[in-house]
Amino acid sequence: MSLVDQLQTLKNKAFSDIQQAVSTQALEEIRVEFLGKKGLLTEVLKGMATLDVAQRPLIGQAANEIKTEIQALYQERVTGLQRQERDARLREEAVDVSLPGHGTDLGLRHPLNQVLLEVTAIFQNLGFSVQEGPDVESDYYNFEALNIPKDHPARDMHDTFYLKNGDVLRTHTSPVQIRTMTQQTPPIRIIVPGKVYRCDTDVTHSPMFHQVEGLYVDKDVTFSQLKGTLSHFLKTFFGKDKKVRFRPSYFPFTEPSTEVDVECVKCEGHGCNVCKRSGWLEILGAGMVNRKVFDSVGYDPDQVTGFAFGLGIERLAMLKFGIPDIRFFYENDKRFLGQFGCVPKALTGEIK
Ligand code: PHE
Repeated sequence: MSLVDQLQTLKNKAFSDIQQAVSTQALEEIRVEFLGKKGLLTEVLKGMATLDVAQRPLIGQAANEIKTEIQALYQERVTGLQRQERDARLREEAVDVSLPGHGTDLGLRHPLNQVLLEVTAIFQNLGFSVQEGPDVESDYYNFEALNIPKDHPARDMHDTFYLKNGDVLRTHTSPVQIRTMTQQTPPIRIIVPGKVYRCDTDVTHSPMFHQVEGLYVDKDVTFSQLKGTLSHFLKTFFGKDKKVRFRPSYFPFTEPSTEVDVECVKCEGHGCNVCKRSGWLEILGAGMVNRKVFDSVGYDPDQVTGFAFGLGIERLAMLKFGIPDIRFFYENDKRFLGQFGCVPKALTGEIK
């Protein structure tokens, strides 16, 4: 076959291939096959060496024309196929904006955390700072240093979980009083949120629950400061019109000791099922730090005085939200948790 015929055949083949190509990728392969450096056109033109010198320019020109024609057709098809491919992709990726969306659940703070944050904020605004301690405590910190010796009847009240080595799961946050006083010097103003453990379970008791401890130690801290501070707390938390009362009580680590009640949140003092007809709710235990506790941390009880208090977060949350069973807090049922959508006052700036 003459070179001219070869070129013509090549052109026809290229044209029909390009026409039939179904993708830009196939087109590119065809372009390389015919026009690439090692392509068919180059191959045919190698035959020029055997031609007369006079014929070479003619063939060269014919080859160039064919090349240009192939390129033009290629270009036209590329543009067409690109448009087709883009249209297909857009059709495939089309979003039907009229379809109903998938709902997303908004995260909310757990009601216990809401209450914990609110309590913490009220005391932080009075100058208390947050302190923490370990859940696994030594007998010394949990009992001994708090004036609860081995045979003390108060140990029975605590239903303690003991570990094999004699350590305990702390039964209250009070051991952090001891840890802080042995590490710092007065004035001390701390609140201690945290988990505590007692072997007890029913609708109002859980083997794990949360307390907030408070401790204020300085020169000349008085019982009236205790009353003022805790009244302020209760009125901020439950409402400023609520009555507060202090009853004498007993704790080994405070002397004198008191239990603090607030007017019932449900019946406003008339008596109902929540307050067991008494009109009052017991909220916290408190008292002036016992001299024996100062002795065990090496403070001079004639130089410093202080008050301490402890309250249960679950109980506060149950009263605040009207929750009848403590176990609801730990079941992580979204139908329950979703009901407490409020943002803690501490985060809205309502507590100043
Ligand atoms: N630790 C006590 C309890 O768990 C509460 C308390 C703390 C009482 C501090 C007085 C002072 O019951």
